[in-house]
Amino acid sequence: MTVLPVAVVISGRGSNMEAIVRASLSGTSRYRVVRVVADRDGAGGLTRAVALGIPTSVVPVKQFSDRAAFDAALAAELEASGAQLVALAGFMRILSAEFVQRFEGKLLNIHPSLLPKYKGLDTHARALAAGDSEHGASVHFVTAELDGGPVIMQGRLRLRAGDTPDAVSARVHTLEHIIYPHVCSLIAAGRIECRAGAVFFDGAPLTEPLIEENDAAA
Ligand code: GRF
Repeated sequence: MTVLPVAVVISGRGSNMEAIVRASLSGTSRYRVVRVVADRDGAGGLTRAVALGIPTSVVPVKQFSDRAAFDAALAAELEASGAQLVALAGFMRILSAEFVQRFEGKLLNIHPSLLPKYKGLDTHARALAAGDSEHGASVHFVTAELDGGPVIMQGRLRLRAGDTPDAVSARVHTLEHIIYPHVCSLIAAGRIECRAGAVFFDGAPLTEPLIEENDAAA
């Protein structure tokens, strides 16, 4: 069985990174996490990664004069890791078109909304303010358009009367921790592919995202 080497890129606490790593620890996983890269020393997820026995690196954004220099250093670090799939997980920087092109079809992101709704920040507050009944998270391939790449899988939950952004965030995270490892496994198994900017599932174009509805989180 071939095992796909995966790198995870973080800026923050890294709970999605941890879920991706933990799901890979079973003997049957088709992927393994070879490196966790953060853009700052203080990213809480670095401590988690070390505790999980995963090699870590920091590409400190503050030390680079511009985005192109930072992106080049990040790309070099990821390529040196041998990763064939890169999962952005709470990575708070916008990557250049050059970077995205370099990792085309091998670069994933998770976004806390049902894309194409609520690209950008404050997604939970925006969904609540709009009175939406449904919300969730999306795993997508990354393209040069922010939060605009083709969606692979969504986790969906129902919003409740009295919900706050923090309460929703906790439930969305529960779903994220299911869907992100699941997508990594499907890619590692060769069941999901990105060709010419479109997602293929078991060889056929994916016309709607795969859906995970989790009652425990909903
Ligand atoms: C997640 O909600 C993800 O959707 C967003 O950033 C958050 C990261 O959380 N991109 P964590 O650092 O994985 O806990």
